[in-house]
Parts: sequence; structure tokens; C-alpha cells
Amino acid sequence: MATTITTREFDRIREFLQRETSISLTDDKAYLVETRLSEIMKAHGLPDFGALLSALQAGQPRGLRDLVIDAMTTNETLWFRDGAPFDAFREHLLPAWAGEIAAGKRQKIRIWSAACSTGQEPYSLAMVYHEVARRLPALRPEHLDILATDLSDSVLATAKAGIYGGMAIQRGLPAEYLDRWFVPAGDGRHEVRREIRDRVVFRKFNLRDSFIMMGSFDIILTRYVLIYFQDDFKREVLRKAHGALDKGGVLFLGASESLPDGMPGFAVVRRGRTTWYQKAGNPTAAPSAAAAPGVAAPRPASRPVTSPPAGSAPPASPANAAGATAAADLNEVLQKLRDLNAKYDK
Ligand SMILES: C[S@@+](CC[C@H](N)C(=O)[O-])C[C@H]1O[C@@H](n2cnc3c(N)ncnc32)[C@H](O)[C@@H]1O
Repeated sequence: MATTITTREFDRIREFLQRETSISLTDDKAYLVETRLSEIMKAHGLPDFGALLSALQAGQPRGLRDLVIDAMTTNETLWFRDGAPFDAFREHLLPAWAGEIAAGKRQKIRIWSAACSTGQEPYSLAMVYHEVARRLPALRPEHLDILATDLSDSVLATAKAGIYGGMAIQRGLPAEYLDRWFVPAGDGRHEVRREIRDRVVFRKFNLRDSFIMMGSFDIILTRYVLIYFQDDFKREVLRKAHGALDKGGVLFLGASESLPDGMPGFAVVRRGRTTWYQKAGNPTAAPSAAAAPGVAAPRPASRPVTSPPAGSAPPASPANAAGATAAADLNEVLQKLRDLNAKYDK
């Protein structure tokens, strides 16, 4: 049976989680804390939430903090979740980038799955890449780098192992992908093939941390993670993601998510049932407004666009406009630093 939590203890657990992960628990989530943390408390001989909070404060036993964070994250995911971003990758983004690779204008396609959970999102992307590469031979395996990060140790362990059974192997995975990209691993489980796994690097990363050392990307996915954060932190993550995208780079959110009102720097691109958010700049790839009818035109990076969600178009307030310019300036500085680094790396 779950241990009961008092209102004050619940508030302190909430503060801990907010401080460490920015995950924000609403007032009605006391039962969730009780059910998710009781097992950990039992395993560590902590009789009540008061003892758990003291142990967290003392930082003893080691590893308790990560276990608590791990237990309080929601790791729901599936293969090809929402479908549309993977269609966009297959039908619009990859063909354009393959053209650039063939023309010698691009060396790599870099993707960051920024809350990857047990790995279905990055592995789905790698499968699509290999599938498209069969008809577009300019796309060689080594052209694709996927970085997949999450805060939770346990989901990362599953993702790295790349072995799935039960519901996890079934949810969202078409039978032909199971046949082509997995090998049997015993007990009804299946292991992702080596050529798919080789394209993905998994790392532990907290979205609270600076993105500056992450490098720059053509695609960043922050899907179904911003929903757990308060508006200020959502905006902070999106600003940092904007800074880590190359010009013309693409941000994917979950199908039920949209940019917060007045979030500068991204153009909303709609193709069929797919929506993505493109960093303003001079994209060379197909998603550019000039090349594609029905696309909100990206403006130069020094004048970031305001991209409200579908249906509403509030004008940017002077305060927003000033913030947007500062963000753009910072992005330009970061871009220059990256360009310099790239030059010295050669
Ligand atoms: C619901 S899953 C989404 C998985 C995948 N993106 C998808 O759309 O299927 C959310 C993930 O976000 C991770 N997460 C939550 N807070 C985080 C933070 N502050 N930094 C990094 N990852 C975080 C959780 O551990 C969890 O695995």
C-alpha cells in the first residue's frame, strides 16, 4: 500500500522536482507522488515522506535523487508517434538535404531528439532515413547523426539496449519495419538492428542545462515534454532550441502542442497534416518559404518572426520585440562562435 503524504510534504516534493527538472506538478497530483515513490521508500527503509525528504536533503543514499526524478517522469512514447513528423522527414526534408549533399553543399544531417524516453523517436527517424536512402543514394549512413537525450537513467538504459518486448514493440510499429529493422532477441523481444543503432548516440541531459555545448542541428524534437513545464521554462527551452538550430533548421513539437503566444524566431510551416517550426534565416533546403507555397515566409535572422499558433496572430508587443532582437543577436554571436570553431577544427 502507498504511504500517505501530507500537504506540506507534497509541496516540498513539488519544490524538489521543480528545482531539479522544471517538471511542474499540479495540486491534484499528491496521489501520483504517493504511488510512484512508495516503492523507492520501502526499498531504502524510509518509513515516511519526512524521512525521504531528509534523505534527499542530505544527498544520502547516493542515487536516491536520480531514482526519485526517474520515478516522477512520464515516459510514454511509441514508434512513429503522430506519424506526420516522420512523413515530413521522409517526403520533404530528406529529399531536399539529399540534393544538397549531392551538390557538395552539405556534409551532415544532424538531429537532436531532446526528450527521447526509451528511444522509439530517434530509432524511428533512423529507420526512415535508411528507407529513403535506398532511393536517394546520396544519403549515406555516415551522413546522419542523431543525438538522443533524456533526464531519466532508466529510460536511457532501455534506449541504449535497443531491445523491446510486449506492448513496447507493438505500439505504432508497422509489421514491415519489425521484419526489416529488428532481430529476434528471445522471449518475444526484438532488438533494433546494428545499422539503425549506429546512427544514434544516447546521452543523459537535463533541458534545464545550457545548450551551448550541444552543437548545432538541422532538426530538434522537443515532443511531449514541454507539457510538463510552466510557461516561462517552456519559452526558455524553445529559446535555447532556437539557438541550437542551424539557419532554416526545423523544430518539431507534439501534434497537440504549439508554440507559446508571441514566441519569436520561428516560422510556422504547414504541409498537409504536418506542422513544423522553422528557424528564420536563409534555409537552403526545400522547406523554405520561397520554394514552397502555403508556407509562412521566414524573415532574416536579425528580424525574427513572431509565430503564433494556428488561428491567432497577436502582434508582437514592444517588450517581445526587444526580447526577440536580443535573442537574435545572441544567436548570431553563437553562430559566429560555432563557425569559428568549425574553421579551427578543419
Ligand atoms: C512523454 S516522454 C516523450 C518522449 C518522446 N519525445 C515522444 O514524443 O514520444 C517525456 C520525456 O521527457 C523527459 N524529461 C522530462 N523532464 C525533462 C528534463 N528537464 N530534461 C530532459 N528530459 C526530461 C522524461 O524523462 C520523458 O522520458
